[in-house]
Formats: sequence, structure tokens, C-alpha cells
Amino acid sequence: MPSPLFAKKPLSLLLEEMKGENRLRRVLGPVQLTSLGVGAIIGTGIFVLTGQAAHDKTGPALVLSFVVAGLACIFAALSYAEFASMVPVAGSAYTYAYATLGELFAWIIGWDLILEYAVGSATVAHGWSHYFQDFLKALGGHVPYVLTRAPFDYDPALGRIVGTDAWFDLPAIVITGIVTALLVKGIRESASFNATMVGIKVAIVFFVIAVGAFFVNPHNWHPFAPYGLTGISFFGHTVAGQTGKGGEPLGMLAGSATIFFAYIGFDSVSTHAEEAKHPQRDVPIGIIASLLLCTGLYIAVAAVLTGMVPFNRINIDAPVSDAFAQVGLPWAQLLISIAAVAGITSVLLVLMLSQPRVMLAMARDGLVPQSFFGAVHPRFRTPWKSTILTGLFVAVLSAFLPLRILAELVNIGTLLAFVIVCAAVLIMRKTHPDAVRPFRAPLVPLTPILGILICLLLMFSLPAENWLRLVVWLALGFVVYFSYGRHHSVLAKARAADSKRESVAQAEADEAV
Ligand code: ALA
Repeated sequence: MPSPLFAKKPLSLLLEEMKGENRLRRVLGPVQLTSLGVGAIIGTGIFVLTGQAAHDKTGPALVLSFVVAGLACIFAALSYAEFASMVPVAGSAYTYAYATLGELFAWIIGWDLILEYAVGSATVAHGWSHYFQDFLKALGGHVPYVLTRAPFDYDPALGRIVGTDAWFDLPAIVITGIVTALLVKGIRESASFNATMVGIKVAIVFFVIAVGAFFVNPHNWHPFAPYGLTGISFFGHTVAGQTGKGGEPLGMLAGSATIFFAYIGFDSVSTHAEEAKHPQRDVPIGIIASLLLCTGLYIAVAAVLTGMVPFNRINIDAPVSDAFAQVGLPWAQLLISIAAVAGITSVLLVLMLSQPRVMLAMARDGLVPQSFFGAVHPRFRTPWKSTILTGLFVAVLSAFLPLRILAELVNIGTLLAFVIVCAAVLIMRKTHPDAVRPFRAPLVPLTPILGILICLLLMFSLPAENWLRLVVWLALGFVVYFSYGRHHSVLAKARAADSKRESVAQAEADEAV
């Protein structure tokens, strides 16, 4: 018998499982799924990280950073869409890896997705806090300083971690608590709440582009790439581009690896496959439509923002609203900060909705405790226990860790997940050429290969210590898998029972002879 570590969950079994009890409700159509995608995408990345990237790493070349990161995501999205149409069950990339690469890879990716969804939520809660504070400031109020941020942060001007004299980020904790409560109550309510928030934030992004365009001064686009057009390091050694004070790569690609965060979330549409009315058709639509829409908007916002304000005067906490204050439109600052608060709330909602659904899929497979992570609330039909646990985890991280460090960790983890999903599409096309694929990624093998290469490039454009953090996180995951998951795996138990039955039958046959 081949090693159980690489046992694959058969496609037929995945589809069969969909017919059982204990299912989530099927309530989502294509518009709601696209809206969930946009809800997860437009948030802290565009409203906050654009400032850090333009100011510290790219200058106006930020526009190209959005193009490169958008390309990486579009190639990955095609792979996600193909899988989501083949295996329309909760669990997203985790489930795809289980069907193609085997249990160990599935575990790695499931564990890695915690970086994307839960650590991502903590990053987003920070961004929410920045705009909430900007909003209070515009009204003349404020949160006491010690409760406004994490107790330490990385200072790029000094190239090292510094204390901030703050205790923790209170607004981030409060918003996490509210979103958790909303999610425990149920997906239908959450989806309509999300739709309202998405409407508000798409409207404000159009506002930023349309009104901001009148305040663009083309001189601000020169020099276009003050830090160069590259920014690649190989485990701490810069191989292309400039190096910052702390040894981090600078340049357009380095900025791309930072603002990649702005695109994260389109894949969360695939975690809702189980709640979709027609998953095979609508999940690919939701993934691709939301991503394309946001890519166009981001490129336009980046052009307008860097045209409105010289790159070295772009604010790093609330860059978009502050740009309007700098050109003399304080009322627009207020409007943008309110909309950003609403918009970022919807990101938090979708990311925190996705995390428990991945855990639910892992619990069904026995890789994490079923009684806890698999518990679906009898009335609300939501995975309530793991939703609350996710809320606690997110609240603690967002309270005590700085946004910059959280965002980079999320990016490297998500890029790894994209690499694995693209590779899995290539493998699946070879091993299951005839499986039904309601959506086929075009130009395979070219598109997944390009997806893998660009994602790897961006991983190497992040500060090197992120590799170390990723390895430590994955090592922790191995400890959990080898001490729990491996021994409780439903698939491994079924295979062991099968082989025992076979040997008993063989022994009986031998005896009969
Ligand atoms: N893309 C999401 C955001 O920028 C995670 O907030």
C-alpha cells in the first residue's frame, strides 16, 4: 500500500459527500458570489498599504506594481476557477490539494490558508482601525494613544523594529468582536450586510478616481520609478534593485509583493461553493468577475493617488483620504474615511467567514477535531465554534502585532497557496484528463506555469525574514499533523480497514486451499 501521507481523496468521494446531511444552506447566486469576492478584495490593501508601498518602495511605479500583482492573481484565479467548478465543496485550495497531491500537501495548504484568512483578517482589522481613527479625527475626536496601535513596529527609515509606546489596538479588537457575532448568526444575513457594504465601497472608489482625476498634477509622476523597476532578494541578498536600511528589497516588484495583499480574497469565493445555488457555473463567475473589476479599479486609484500627491508626501496610515485633505477637500476626507470603514468591514466579514469553512472541511476529513471544528449550529447552520475561535485568534493578533509585519506574512503564505493550486491544476490535467470540468482554464499549461513563476517572483520580492516566518509556521503545522491529523484521518482509517479486510479474506482463502 502506498504511504498514507500521500493518499488522495477520490474526486468521486468528494462529490458523494456533498449529498450528505450536515450541509450548509444553498443560498448564494452569481451576483452574491461576485459581491462576496469584491467584498473580500477591496479593503486595507488599497486604502492603507498603497501608502506604504508608494512612499517606501515604488513611487508612481505603484501603477505597474498593481499590474504585476494583478497578473499573478488572474493566472491563479483561472486555476482556482477550474478547481471550484470540478470540486464545488467548502474548503477551497485545501480540498483541491487533497484530491490531487495527497493528504500531506492538503494539510500544508490548509494550515497555510490560516495565514491567508485568519492572519489576513488581523491585518484588515488594523486597516479598519486606521480609518476609524481618521474618521474620528475628522470629527474632532480621538482614541487614547495607548489604545491605537500595536506596542511595536518596523521603522523603514531606521531599518529596525522600534517600540511605539502604545499598549494595543482597541478599535481592531472591537470590530473583530462585532464581525464574529454577526458571522455566528448566519450566512444569509451576512451576505445582505456584505452587499450593502460592497455598494458603498465600490461607489467611493469610483468617487476617488473621478474626483481625484481633477487634482492630478502630472509632474508628480516624475520620477516614475525612484526606487527602480525591480526589487528581488534571494534569502536576504538583493539580486536586483535597491536595498532598504533593514536589508529589504526596494522597487516596483518589491512594492508589488506588498500590495499583492490588496488582491487577496477573490479565492475566498471558492470557500463558499457549498453555499452556492449553482456552484459549477457561478463560483468561476464570482472569482473571475470580482478579480477583473478590482484590478481595473486599483490601477486607476494608484495612478490618481500618485498623481495627486508627490510620492514622498503620501500618508502611510490613511493615504487615500489624506490625499484629498492635502489637495484641499476635507469634506472628501471625511466621506472616504466613512466609506473605507464600511468597506474594510466587509473584507473582514468575508475573510473571517472563509476561515471556519476551511476548518470545517478539514474536520470532516478528521485532520482537526470534528467535534469542535465540524460543529454546525443546529439553528443558525453556521460553524459557530470555530468562528468564535477564529475571532479570538484575530483579535489577539490584531491587537499586538503591527500591520506591516502581518501583511507580509499573509502575502507569502497566500502566494505559496497560489503556487500549489496552479501546480495542482497541471497535475490534475495529467492524472484525471477526462474528469468533468465545467470551467477549463485557458491555455493550460501556459497559464498555471506563468502563475507559479510570477507568484515565486513576488515571494522573493518580500523581505527575507518572511521566508523564515513561513518555515516556522509550516513546521508548527507539521507538529500538529504528525501528532493529531495523521492518526485521525478518515481516509487513512478507511484505507487501513480496507487492507485489513483484504488480508482477512486472503487468509481465509489460503486456509480453504
Ligand atoms: N484584499 C483584502 C484587503 O485589501 C484582503 O483588505
